[in-house]
Amino acid sequence: MTERFYIKGGTPLKGEVSIGGAKNSVLKLMAAALLVKGSTKIYNVPDLTDVDIMLKVIEQLGAKIDYNKEEKAVTIDASSLTSVTASYELVSKMRASFVVLGALISRCKEAKVAMPGGCAIGERRVDFHIRGFETLGAKIKIENGYVIAKASKLTGADIYLDIPSVGATENIMLAAVLAEGSTRIQNAAQEPEIVDLANFLNTMGADINGAGTSEIIINGVKQENLHSIEYTTIPDRIEAGTYMTAIIATKGKGIIKDIYPAHLTFFTDKLLKMGANIKLLNPTSMEVSCKNRLNSINFITQPYPGFPTDLQSMAMTLLTTANGVGIITESLYENRFMQVPDLNRMGADIHQDRNHAIIKGVKKLSGTTLTASDLRAGASLVVAALMAEGESVIEKLHHIDRGYENFETKLRLLGGKIERRKDSPQVNPEETHNESYL
Ligand code: EPU
Repeated sequence: MTERFYIKGGTPLKGEVSIGGAKNSVLKLMAAALLVKGSTKIYNVPDLTDVDIMLKVIEQLGAKIDYNKEEKAVTIDASSLTSVTASYELVSKMRASFVVLGALISRCKEAKVAMPGGCAIGERRVDFHIRGFETLGAKIKIENGYVIAKASKLTGADIYLDIPSVGATENIMLAAVLAEGSTRIQNAAQEPEIVDLANFLNTMGADINGAGTSEIIINGVKQENLHSIEYTTIPDRIEAGTYMTAIIATKGKGIIKDIYPAHLTFFTDKLLKMGANIKLLNPTSMEVSCKNRLNSINFITQPYPGFPTDLQSMAMTLLTTANGVGIITESLYENRFMQVPDLNRMGADIHQDRNHAIIKGVKKLSGTTLTASDLRAGASLVVAALMAEGESVIEKLHHIDRGYENFETKLRLLGGKIERRKDSPQVNPEETHNESYL
């Protein structure tokens, strides 16, 4: 049986929506829990398929897992690990699991983790990660699709990243926690998820300074300095941005709760420039509304604190019906305009030229059958379907389920006409979408 969303567009979304824990943070916190010979309890864990995959990876390494979905808490007991191998079967399902390499090399001085490879949105190499481990003293071999890392000891060093890569910053940070001496990561990623990981590690007994800036210093500590902790994950800024977009796209009015508005500054600023209304209600909630046709804007995706690439597709959906012409430049990924053909099939006027998309605002979109080709492209099509005239059907929901907890339930609470139905699969000979995972 295949699951599909059936969406009837045109209803303004109204009400309140609570945002869950950040997917891109919690996955790394789970890997970091492997560092401590003890038990770690992580709260605010969203119920996502990516979380399930990461739990399987961690279990495969010998840690004991308890996932209490009602409490939204995961307990990881990594007192003893029985393996240093993360299999291709799991890593190929979710690239983020490559981050266990940093934790394993730090704690066990060896690791064998499947090479994640490219994915639907781009090549996504791991060369900075590998260079970072080598600079700390690890010997790296790539054999039979696995990265095999060994070190008699790791020694702190200066590491400069060519691009402020989120994953490389996290992996190197993890590897350096138990290294001898100090590691300095220059041109480090500054995303809130990096700060969350550093806070988590420091709570556990690590010594990390500068997270959230472009220079992070990790002073190595001894294994016995690390101890069991309980920790709450930060809110998911991308989930928050998605609901903001959905409310604005449908000309609705709603409150986004349980967020850190400061993590969304750049996105909020662009929405305000387009003509949306956004009001800070208190330190953890914002009211979002929109009555009139939006104005087009131009933007470039950039590492934090720039415009987040993960919200590029949502902003594109808004631009499809805005007044004027908007230009989006995607600077992080080679192939992150996967939503364009489907948006054009809905009546949008988007021309793509390499990493630029030129969007001429049209009066309206109309519903049709759509395919979620990756997580964020899929979510942006849900938003487009909610604002379109008529009905849409969205296929390949497994991509969306990786990053949006109870998506249709939350949208329905806001008044969205969306239903998930199980149908028999239809054979579509034109189906050419890349199935690989982010
Ligand atoms: N890059 C390299 N070499 C490396 C590492 C990165 O060339 O060794 C390149 C990548 O190919 C990419 C750019 O650097 O073009 C940025 O990649 P980065 O390493 O920052 O991304 P990531 O860690 O793989 C995380 C998020 C992504 C998000 C990016 C950018 C997780 C699990 N994933 O990926 O989230 O787009 O940072 O903010 O944290 C999503 O949630 O939908 C998603 C894709």
